[in-house]
Formats: sequence, structure tokens, C-alpha cells
Amino acid sequence: MLAVQQLESGYGESIILREVSMQIKPGQVVCLLGRNGVGKTTLMRSIMGLLRARNGKVVYKNADLTKAAPARRARSGIGYVPQGREIFAQLTVYENLLLGLEASTTPMAVIPDEAIAKFPVLPSMYNRRGGDLSGGQQQQLAFARALASNPDLLLLDEPCEGIQPSIVEDIREVIRSIKQDGKTAILLAEQSLDFVKSVGDYFYILEKGVVAWEGGLDALSDDVIRSYLTV
Ligand SMILES: Nc1ncnc2c1ncn2[C@@H]1O[C@H](COP(=O)(O)OP(=O)(O)OP(=O)(O)O)[C@@H](O)[C@H]1O
Ligand SMILES: [Mg+2]
Repeated sequence: MLAVQQLESGYGESIILREVSMQIKPGQVVCLLGRNGVGKTTLMRSIMGLLRARNGKVVYKNADLTKAAPARRARSGIGYVPQGREIFAQLTVYENLLLGLEASTTPMAVIPDEAIAKFPVLPSMYNRRGGDLSGGQQQQLAFARALASNPDLLLLDEPCEGIQPSIVEDIREVIRSIKQDGKTAILLAEQSLDFVKSVGDYFYILEKGVVAWEGGLDALSDDVIRSYLTV
């Protein structure tokens, strides 16, 4: 459903991603691994259209979105939970969720129950300001905000970074339940190997902006981990 083809992308003069190709099938959980600074976030931003591709293509549901604006990609069904969450601190939890609806494929006036059901703690916090939530609560809010638009593909950039263990477990369960529902594919960038192994179907490892390795869970051996992931 998503095909990234020979993508080249970067900032100003510097090229970060070189000839990156990847595929995500419907309902699949694909994990994006690699040490700090290899280009995971850059790839997510390029898929979302927040960064213009210099070369190559982003094809989604057979439509070439390479030149499409971020809002069009969102309306095509791609949801994004950015690294660092990007919650609006001055807006309430409820208002933050409403912003997620803006990206819907079909116009909606209310936040879908399914998005909230996965985060039962949120309704009790509707009137609190986003900025007053803990990091873990903000992560849950960012996740629910992305789900509010009913995406077919969800980009999750390090959802467990700096989050307390109990909420990491909640997020693991949410990813598993999304996988079980089978309606939404996920591209997950995450540092914790234990976490990605517990949810991932297929893995891409980036090194210095190129895909250095790809394969299934069985092939993700200790040797591979030592070569590309240990610091
Ligand atoms: N806004 C920017 N302007 C210029 N260079 C940037 C910018 N953002 C990132 N970079 C550079 O691009 C490279 C890739 O960064 P990116 O954030 O994509 O890595 P990452 O794999 O997501 O790292 P991390 O695991 O720390 O999140 C790094 O060398 C980084 O310094
Ligand atoms: Mg990153």
C-alpha cells in the first residue's frame, strides 16, 4: 500500500537519505531501526511530505504522492505521531483530539469511539491543557489524535522515547490491538529491540541514510543486531 522508491531527501545542502526503498503492505507492522541520526525521522517526514523529496517517489494506494502537500497525504489516509509528540500545550486535550479530525479521509464532526477506546484514560483529561500532561499522557494523546482520522497507515516515530514503563506497555497493547483489527498498517521507528520484536512483522535497518538491511523477524539475528544496531 506504501511504496517508497529510490528516495533521496535532506536539509539544505546536505543529503540525508540516499536511494531508500521500502514497502508496507496493508495491516503490516513494519519497523524502522538504526542508530541515532541515521535518518529515521527524515524518512517519516519525507513520507508525510513535511520534507520535499529530491529524487525518487512516494506511492500510496497506487497514487504518486511525491509532490503532494502534507494535508493531502493525511487525507489520503496517512496518520503521523511525530517524535517528541508535538502536542499543542495551550489547547485542551479535547481540542488537540479535534485537530486530528482535520486530517480525516471523510469529513467527521466527532472523534470516533474506536480511537478513544484504545486510550480509556483520555476522556477524564479532556479539559486539561495539553502542556500540563506528563510525557506518557502526551504520547497517548498524540497517538489517539492520529487515530482520530481513521488512518490506513500510521507513522509512529519513537513512541516509547522517554516514557514510563507502564505506558510503554499500554502503547505495546494498542499497537497489538491495531494489528489484530487489521485495518491500519504501521511504520514504527523505535530504539528498543525488545519492543519492535514483540510487534513487528518486517524490519528495515538504516545506516547513514541507506537501507543497510531488511528482513523478517527470523532473520533479525544477533549478528545483524551487532553489525547495525549496537553502539
Ligand atoms: N532540521 C534539520 N536540519 C538539518 N539537519 C538535520 C535536521 N534534522 C535532522 N538533521 C540531520 O539529519 C540526520 C538524520 O536525522 P534524523 O533525525 O532523521 O535521524 P534519526 O534516525 O531520526 O535519529 P534519532 O534516533 O536520534 O531520532 C542527522 O545527521 C541530523 O543531524
Ligand atoms: Mg528520529
